[in-house]
Amino acid sequence: MDQFVIRGGRPLTGEVAIGGAKNAALGLLAASIMADEPVIIRNIPDVSDINTLLDAIADTGAGVDRMNRHEVCLNGATIRSYVVDNSYIRKMRAGYYMLGAMLGKYHYAEVALPGGCTIGSRPIDQHLKGFEALGARTSIRNSMVLVEAERLRGQHIYFDSVSVGATINVMMAAVYAQGRTVLENVAKEPHVVDVANFLNSMGARIKGAGTDVIRIDGVTRLHGTDYTVIPDQIEAGTFMTAAAVTHGDVTVRNVIPKHLECISSKLREIGCRVEEYDDAVRVIAEGPLKATRVRTLPYPGFPTDMQPQIAVVLAVAQGTSTVTETIFENRFKYVAELNRMGTNISVEGGSRAVIIGVPELKGASLVAPDLRAGAALVMAALAANGDSIVEEIGYIQRGYEDFVDKMKQLGGVIETVDSEEEARKFLLKQA
Ligand code: EPZ
Repeated sequence: MDQFVIRGGRPLTGEVAIGGAKNAALGLLAASIMADEPVIIRNIPDVSDINTLLDAIADTGAGVDRMNRHEVCLNGATIRSYVVDNSYIRKMRAGYYMLGAMLGKYHYAEVALPGGCTIGSRPIDQHLKGFEALGARTSIRNSMVLVEAERLRGQHIYFDSVSVGATINVMMAAVYAQGRTVLENVAKEPHVVDVANFLNSMGARIKGAGTDVIRIDGVTRLHGTDYTVIPDQIEAGTFMTAAAVTHGDVTVRNVIPKHLECISSKLREIGCRVEEYDDAVRVIAEGPLKATRVRTLPYPGFPTDMQPQIAVVLAVAQGTSTVTETIFENRFKYVAELNRMGTNISVEGGSRAVIIGVPELKGASLVAPDLRAGAALVMAALAANGDSIVEEIGYIQRGYEDFVDKMKQLGGVIETVDSEEEARKFLLKQA
């Protein structure tokens, strides 16, 4: 099995280009089948979650022409199956976006029920509540979610909790509902706005994405478009925090600095210098890092998808920090791994980590428990004194394109290997 071997202790320095946002692209790809004309999507990241969703879309009969690594042309005109089975959903949850897209367009969809996952139970009740409000019947049979409707009518829907997935899914279905839909208590993440902008570029009439209320006036037809995905806020944030924990100096390019403000301001608070340019952010971590408090919240709050990465930085900051996770119930599994590197972190009540900063991390043999925590462990290993191995890197490849190459470009000593023997050889070469 592939694993990363890492020799830590060098500051990351230089420039890195950020790719398209995975979580925006997943929504856009599903939404693209709502037109019966060619839809070109540019700047998609080449990561396994995206490639799995493209396979699932192709399996419905839709045209999927991968023009190159980062561009794809889709066409929903040839769809003949409204089913997405578990072979896709077990690899990538976001196939549930096909529910909203196909319910809107065909008034029928069957998608495998996404189970719990390593970061929490992740129910989809708010998605179903929204579909039902629009007039759909929903049921779960043989682990498949089935949604169908004779017709969809615009409604006033108040979500009980703020959900990125439910907001995007119900927004997609409502594009084809008769009349006006008003969605309240919605998610405001940049990728929600990107999906709305994308649908509008296909002829949808969506207003208010990025605020608490989204208004959608139903249309009967969407047309083709040519659209570029926004930069990935979390990939950018990961490299920013990697700069901080390794006491480096990294410029992340191709970003929207406004989307990174929640991360930039935390990094400044703990003693980093953060410079913002039009489409780049530079993080310089020269002096000692200071403890702080972090609480994950829906956008524009601090993202849960950056929680493990900031915890790694705070693990070597002076003083006692706290990190409170308010979005998912099981997102501290990486703490046991980090503590084997010499950190002093305890988790209270499952949702709050108390981090007593230590002067340095030690290399260790580590297992990535999920995507973002996996990236955080790599960052920790790059900062640590000594050598580390990170296993289960498939999680990391779900959401980070060329992660190893990008880290190497910044001076990180890291390689993908498929055996202990290869790992040893790589480390010997570094000596
Ligand atoms: C999206 O997941 C992202 N995934 C996640 O990214 C991200 O962590 C999450 O939003 C929060 O920002 C994609 O965009 C594909 P939610 P999503 O619905 O939409 C509860 C990554 O690492 N909830 O906003 O599934 C839920 O349990 C990942 O890239 C309900 O109770 O998240 C959670 O506590 C992992 N009922 C909270 O809401 C529902 O019907 C937020 O979940 C839906 C959600």
